[in-house]
Amino acid sequence: MNRIQSLLARRNPAYALEQAFYTDPEIFRTDLETIHYRDWLFAIPACELVKAGDYVTYNVGAYRVIIVRGADNQIRAFHNTCRHRGSVICKASKGNTPKLVCPYHQWTYELDGSLLWARDMGADFDPKQHGLKTVHCRELAGLVYICLAEDAPDFDTFANIAGAYLEPHDLGNAKVAFESSIIENGNWKLVWENNRECYHCGGNHPALCRTFPDDPTVTGIEGGALPAHLQTHFDRCEAAGLPSQFYLHEDGQYRLARMPLKEGAQSYTMDGKSAVRRWLGRSPFADAGSLLKFHYPTTWNHFLADHSIVFRVTPISATETEVTTKWLVHKDAVEGVDYDLKRLTEVWEATNDEDRRVVEDNQQGINSPAYVPGPYSAKQESGVLQFVDWYCATLTRRLIPDAVAAE
Ligand code: FES
Ligand SMILES: [Fe+2]
Repeated sequence: MNRIQSLLARRNPAYALEQAFYTDPEIFRTDLETIHYRDWLFAIPACELVKAGDYVTYNVGAYRVIIVRGADNQIRAFHNTCRHRGSVICKASKGNTPKLVCPYHQWTYELDGSLLWARDMGADFDPKQHGLKTVHCRELAGLVYICLAEDAPDFDTFANIAGAYLEPHDLGNAKVAFESSIIENGNWKLVWENNRECYHCGGNHPALCRTFPDDPTVTGIEGGALPAHLQTHFDRCEAAGLPSQFYLHEDGQYRLARMPLKEGAQSYTMDGKSAVRRWLGRSPFADAGSLLKFHYPTTWNHFLADHSIVFRVTPISATETEVTTKWLVHKDAVEGVDYDLKRLTEVWEATNDEDRRVVEDNQQGINSPAYVPGPYSAKQESGVLQFVDWYCATLTRRLIPDAVAAE
């Protein structure tokens, strides 16, 4: 048993994790190698790539990825590493290009990754053997997921389940109204743990708490016998064609549930009213609440009647995490006419900054030699426990040699 396996084996599940899980570079590397390099990762909303040649780049750990819309309209992902001597090909974070041209010696690739042109490589050089290496890429109801593993795990089960919940939100007809990327000086698991409870909301999120219920049954993962008001909300939404029932996958990696906002609230705005007049999706009423989706290890999302918000969590180092937020509105909604950008974004801009602060404070306190793991609140922190259970179970399973191949 190696050091990380012993740390996992001696874990007390009713308590927070030990310091090393949040500070140790070796555990950080293990997290990447056993989780991020192997699982499906939400990368971008498909609407970011409108026309052929539109691309974005995304870095995960040591990997660099290009996601590009091809001439045939299909979205594909490739390793952003030239097949000649390995230069990065696309250096910008996004752009449009008719071909993918390496800046070093101008090897030129088609948008489908095939090598089109390479100067003076000799008669026996076979361009077909030197196309860009592909990264698994799937589009799910307007959300693009990638997987860096050679052999990707099953995606269809998740796609079938989540697809039904997402379909009414019509993300294929969305546009990005605004995006923000912040670096939180905290381990990626602290970002998730903070996201998975609202024990901290009342004391930290005055803007969010105007509309988001400070109710552990909304953020938690109980399932089973839900309080009557939640079941009533699910039933009302489902009768109107919006899949809503609480669903937690058996391995704990993803959850879907359309939760009500506070009484009378329609959207995450300061006054609780809709933020966008031209709605994204086919919600039959304004107070359908928020379809809450998480999919470990990279994304949580809110899908509302009028707009949607997608979040992406990217580990940078043991103590740094990038959180990217994108506000999606209907592609025909006009800023200044159908929505005011400040009104649309101010609640989650403030909430993200408040969450950054609490995550950074959490990391600082854990860094102290005096830190000892404390107990979770069973009532308030079931979601944190569920995330940490998923993390520890995944790591434990995959640290056994050959376990991944058997999954
Ligand atoms: S490294 Fe890309 S063309 Fe030489
Ligand atoms: Fe928060």
